[in-house]
Amino acid sequence: MKKFNVGIVGATGMVGQRFMSILENHPWFDVKVLAASARSAGKTYTEAVGSKWAMTTPIPASMANMIIMDADADIEKIGELVDFVFCAVNLDKDATKALEERYAKAEIPVVSNNSANRHTPDVPMVVPEINADHIKIIDAQRKRLGTKRGFIAVKSNCSLQSYVPALYPLDKDYGVEDVLVCTYQAISGAGKTFDTWPEMVDNVIPYIGGEEEKSEKEPLKLWGKIEGDVIVDAEKPHFTAQCLRVPASDGHMAAVFVRFANKPSKEQILDAWKNYAGRAQELELPSAPKQFLHYFEEDNYPQTKLHRNLENGMAISCGRLREDTQYDYKFVCLSHNTLRGAAGGAVLLAELLCAEGYMD
Ligand SMILES: NC(=O)c1ccc[n+]([C@@H]2O[C@H](COP(=O)([O-])OP(=O)(O)OC[C@H]3O[C@@H](n4cnc5c(N)ncnc54)[C@H](OP(=O)(O)O)[C@@H]3O)[C@@H](O)[C@H]2O)c1
Repeated sequence: MKKFNVGIVGATGMVGQRFMSILENHPWFDVKVLAASARSAGKTYTEAVGSKWAMTTPIPASMANMIIMDADADIEKIGELVDFVFCAVNLDKDATKALEERYAKAEIPVVSNNSANRHTPDVPMVVPEINADHIKIIDAQRKRLGTKRGFIAVKSNCSLQSYVPALYPLDKDYGVEDVLVCTYQAISGAGKTFDTWPEMVDNVIPYIGGEEEKSEKEPLKLWGKIEGDVIVDAEKPHFTAQCLRVPASDGHMAAVFVRFANKPSKEQILDAWKNYAGRAQELELPSAPKQFLHYFEEDNYPQTKLHRNLENGMAISCGRLREDTQYDYKFVCLSHNTLRGAAGGAVLLAELLCAEGYMD
């Protein structure tokens, strides 16, 4: 695979920092541009990020002294330096949409962590193990935008990347009908640490703005189908969600209750999880976990602190599968919210797009 030059838009943020750490030694991608708001532009990365650096590893040496570009004013210049950008900015929805479209129209593909374009019908929202085929909609999107190379592709919200991976492999044979899910979400999902959010120490907050709607609605796009020039959402499974913020630094846990059209045995579920591999594994993408879904037999596993980093934070951990009194089964699952759920998931999506020829 040839090397691709990439930019990180929103590099000073929590997800941007994760991108930098993951991409430091990436076999296919070289970081050539770091961009953020006009407040940071013109400063070295180290100067701009200051005490906001929240990773446990130091700022990558190759990027520490890069001069930050203005994500908005420097688009043309950025286009001369990169093959595509990753984008994770904290702008409102309309401003984010407009910014991402400006990149795409400047013929710079955008792989986005933002939610603004997740429901744009010709923007693929992809978990590469689940709906890799949705990237074919990019041809229709390019037609709409009037571009040859430029397009936007997004990853889904971090909360659902714990439970959708566990449910999807069961749908084909057993028909997933109804899902009730409670998520226990880490504070990095709000772009925070315990230093910047001391109120979260020894606390639980039963509300995360907009999260329950995303957790119920976004899976239907992942389950959806391309029809003509759009992706049409699936009508099933039916999801209901409650999302809680808990005092964990990283890692979203989900407690799931599920009802099937044809109830499988416990062994059939475990088999389906063990044997499931998606397009990311078929293509042996560099960031793809070897085993997508890991099942733990121990009653007190998976645990956020012990298992969130499994396979570089890209695998999903499942456990406690048992029959339920009201639904067919219940179980728990866990994923790393800023790796699989954010920057790592976007890097995996970019790898898929490169391998399938969309970044040429
Ligand atoms: N944290 C997570 O786990 C997570 C997971 C999935 C998705 N996301 C999504 O990823 C995005 C970023 O989240 P985050 O937690 O990384 O946010 P964050 O820590 O607040 O960082 C936001 C970034 O956006 C930049 N920015 C702000 N205003 C800008 C502007 N006008 N033009 C260009 N850049 C601007 C900031 O630059 P300055 O430093 O110069 O202000 C900073 O680099 C959000 O859409 C969020 O919903 C986050």
